[in-house]
Amino acid sequence: MGKGKLYIETYGCQMNFADSEVVAAILSPEYDIVDNVKDADVILVNTCSIRDNAEQRVFNRLNELTNLKNKKKHLQIGILGCMAERLKDDLFQKSNVDLIVGPDAYRMLPEILKSEISPIDVQLSQTETYKEIIPFKYEGNGVSAFVSIMRGCNNFCSYCVVPYTRGRERSREIDSILNEIQHLVNDGYKEVTLLGQNVNSYHFEDYNFATLMQIVAEKFSTTRIRFATSHPKDLSDELLEVMAKYNNICKSIHLPAQSGSTAMLKRMNRKYSREDYLNRIASIKKHLPDCAISTDLIAGFCDETEEEYQATLSLMKEVGFDFAYMFKYSMREGTAAHKHMQDNIPEEIKIKRLEEIIALQQELSHISNKKDVGKSMEVLVEGPSKRNKNQYFGRNSQNKVVIFDKGNCQKGDFVMVKITACTAATLLGELL
Ligand code: SAH
Ligand code: SF4
Ligand code: F3S
Repeated sequence: MGKGKLYIETYGCQMNFADSEVVAAILSPEYDIVDNVKDADVILVNTCSIRDNAEQRVFNRLNELTNLKNKKKHLQIGILGCMAERLKDDLFQKSNVDLIVGPDAYRMLPEILKSEISPIDVQLSQTETYKEIIPFKYEGNGVSAFVSIMRGCNNFCSYCVVPYTRGRERSREIDSILNEIQHLVNDGYKEVTLLGQNVNSYHFEDYNFATLMQIVAEKFSTTRIRFATSHPKDLSDELLEVMAKYNNICKSIHLPAQSGSTAMLKRMNRKYSREDYLNRIASIKKHLPDCAISTDLIAGFCDETEEEYQATLSLMKEVGFDFAYMFKYSMREGTAAHKHMQDNIPEEIKIKRLEEIIALQQELSHISNKKDVGKSMEVLVEGPSKRNKNQYFGRNSQNKVVIFDKGNCQKGDFVMVKITACTAATLLGELL
């Protein structure tokens, strides 16, 4: 019997994309991956629950996908990821899907697809890290890869669903991390991003995140190393010292602030104050003067006063973020905010605040990019620019996108580029 045809569609964070590659690896003995959904015998949708609009997108897509069953009777459709974990049986009853498998149960997929066991498995685990599974890279650019170093989250920020959908925090064995990176390097990858909801709390035996980074940077000295995400309460000076010591560790830190108001941060259960956050920023700037700093911000969380919102704007200006992801608060059932607070900021005020935050960040990003005009920098070529086939796009150490005419280089090369112009979103340059 030939292999079945599997189509995977992924929503949400980088960890979900990394998980889809684990799923592809687990199913690779029985299935070939196809890139056209119409060819599939099995469709797996790896989903995200972080905000309501993320879930709505998936519901809309499921309507389209389940219609395909009218034409193909044997088609199996499965929901994976955070919506599987959050909605469980309810999703199974309400949608015409065949299986619901949570983020820690992917090893059961072969048996579930053969209908040998229950089609619903949302058991979370204290220990699963899929450590020995080498992810199967079925999409992506062949240059830059994600490597999960931990799973789950123990922080319980009051607005956030992740601790409920991903379960308890656990770190992956160091040898299995090094082994996966070695595979990537052998396959020609030039950059790896170590992933976790809070990489700074990585711990395995005597290793913490700083020592892990040091080992990775030394062992893979010609590979670029990045990481995400850092929780401000755990970002150590020890890590900043390691970052300063190794050229191949990229000078870019994603440090989600969420808010600039200490009172608001307390309601969010973030466990740091505005001053603590600014202290971490000062330490980054001291150890790593050329480090880019990016952040996540939420507008319109419970009881947000005008003053608290202004504190977020002033924090943004004070830090001068190079980049930010910005969101409107979306109430998630089961979280502490849902149980104990009111989602009481009117929609139009949430939208207005978010728009102002986005406009301010646009200015800050533009200021940051203008400072790079005239500089020469190393860029890792990731592939052709989407807009112009005669140009390449890549990233610098600071994780900024750089566009330049192709010249005599290839995808996967480290090249020197002189920046000649910029927009708020990209740097434009010429190959040196
Ligand atoms: N672990 C990371 C964040 C993961 S979720 C960290 O702690 O920084 C990514 C971002 O989504 C969060 O940083 C937050 O800004 C946003 N987010 C999470 N829950 C949200 C909610 N209920 N409404 C709006 N934005 C939310
Ligand atoms: Fe969510 Fe907070 Fe955990 Fe990040 S640290 S995933 S925001 S609970
Ligand atoms: Fe979304 Fe789950 Fe990631 S909720 S952001 S896919 S951990």
